[in-house]
Amino acid sequence: MTEYFYNQKSVEILTKANMIANIVSGADTQEEYASSLGQLQMIKDSRVVVTDLDARVLYDSANQLVGVAFLEGNGIMLNALKGHNEAKRIKYSQLYEKKVEYGVAAAVPMLKERVTVGGVYVAVSAEDVEDILKNIRYNLIYIALLVSVFVGIFSAMLAGIITIPVERLTGIIKEMSEGKLYQQVEIKGRSEIAELGSAFNRMSTQLLREEEKRRQFVSDASHELKTPLSSIKILVDSMLNMQKLEPAITREFLGDINSEIDRLTRIIQNLLHMTKMDVTVNALEVKEINMKKLIEDVVKSIKPIARQKNLKLETVIPHVVKLWINEDEIWEAVFNIVDNAIKYTDDGGIVHITLNQFDQEVYITIEDNGIGLSAEEQEKIFERFYRVDKARDRQTGGTGLGLAIARQAVRNHGGDIDIESEEGKGSKFTIRLPYYEK
Ligand SMILES: Nc1ncnc2c1ncn2[C@@H]1O[C@H](COP(=O)(O)OP(=O)(O)OP(=O)(O)O)[C@@H](O)[C@H]1O
Ligand SMILES: [Mg+2]
Repeated sequence: MTEYFYNQKSVEILTKANMIANIVSGADTQEEYASSLGQLQMIKDSRVVVTDLDARVLYDSANQLVGVAFLEGNGIMLNALKGHNEAKRIKYSQLYEKKVEYGVAAAVPMLKERVTVGGVYVAVSAEDVEDILKNIRYNLIYIALLVSVFVGIFSAMLAGIITIPVERLTGIIKEMSEGKLYQQVEIKGRSEIAELGSAFNRMSTQLLREEEKRRQFVSDASHELKTPLSSIKILVDSMLNMQKLEPAITREFLGDINSEIDRLTRIIQNLLHMTKMDVTVNALEVKEINMKKLIEDVVKSIKPIARQKNLKLETVIPHVVKLWINEDEIWEAVFNIVDNAIKYTDDGGIVHITLNQFDQEVYITIEDNGIGLSAEEQEKIFERFYRVDKARDRQTGGTGLGLAIARQAVRNHGGDIDIESEEGKGSKFTIRLPYYEK
């Protein structure tokens, strides 16, 4: 920057020196120089020295050096006498009447008919340049100070806005990781931090819900397992209390114990199945499966039970539909629903199964003309362990998990199960699965 201002000044003074050289080239004596330069406005405040080719001073605006060799600013003057224009910065110089600290001097050749006959030296004060520079430097310091004050205030504010709430949140999360799952933070304003806070609150609420669901599930599962176990306990106790074990009664009791054990096994199998499905949600192993064949397989494996009840099993599958699915999970879902249709339909009824595809969805419907479900029951049957008639189902052997498993399986595939039913008339379950082309 300093450089820039001094360059400007140098150009200015070189021009001035050349003009002076032009003007004085006609003069010969000190008086003639004085008179030709005297009126010049532009040499005011400048020191002007004119020398001959040997650097002997012919004219000096300060009237100090006339007749002697010009030594001040020697270097540039010698160059000027060789025909070069040159300017440089000078320091502590005696210019006209006053001494200056900063200045700029220029020396140029004086030509007469294109021949160098001497040189002209002009020096001016550069105090104005220095003043500007000082001003700029002062302003820079001022701006820097202002900026640092602002940065200080701003970072203090940031600390208040960000650091403190984040610290509070960190503390709460720490408590959470120590087991206190339900935590809520106070939310102020609408900043990103406030948003983080409300996201945190939602997460905590969700965690609490999940935790409650899990606790409920464990309690339900324990209860379901307890019932057959207490039956077994009672049966065994009464056998132990018998004076004499009649073979016929023993056989009957052991048969009851056996079916309770079967029931325990079924419940545990279903529970294991369900937990396994929960885990595999993220990495569902799919294959391209012919749905017609899958449904026919289900029907084939369940046919003996239907025959026992004298039920008719009809399937209507108009065309081949291939889906990318996990075969075991969907097989299980279809099986559980067909199994229900048979179980909850009286002897001599009909179960009707269809497979269709519309647009991007595949529908499997399982319709029966059995006992049906009230609107209230329809809402609950997908819950784990829910059975409409517990006492009755203890005989049919239901665990109340079949539909929960079926729905989980279908949802894992991005589909769902719908139900239409009327008490006493029958039910229709529809499995919807998204159809992807690969
Ligand atoms: N097609 C149906 N008609 C009438 N009621 C049904 C039908 N399907 C299910 N339900 C009712 O819904 C309840 C829940 O069914 P879900 O399949 O989950 O359990 P479950 O059949 O009792 O036991 P599991 O399937 O484990 O043997 C059944 O107990 C039954 O009361
Ligand atoms: Mg069932």
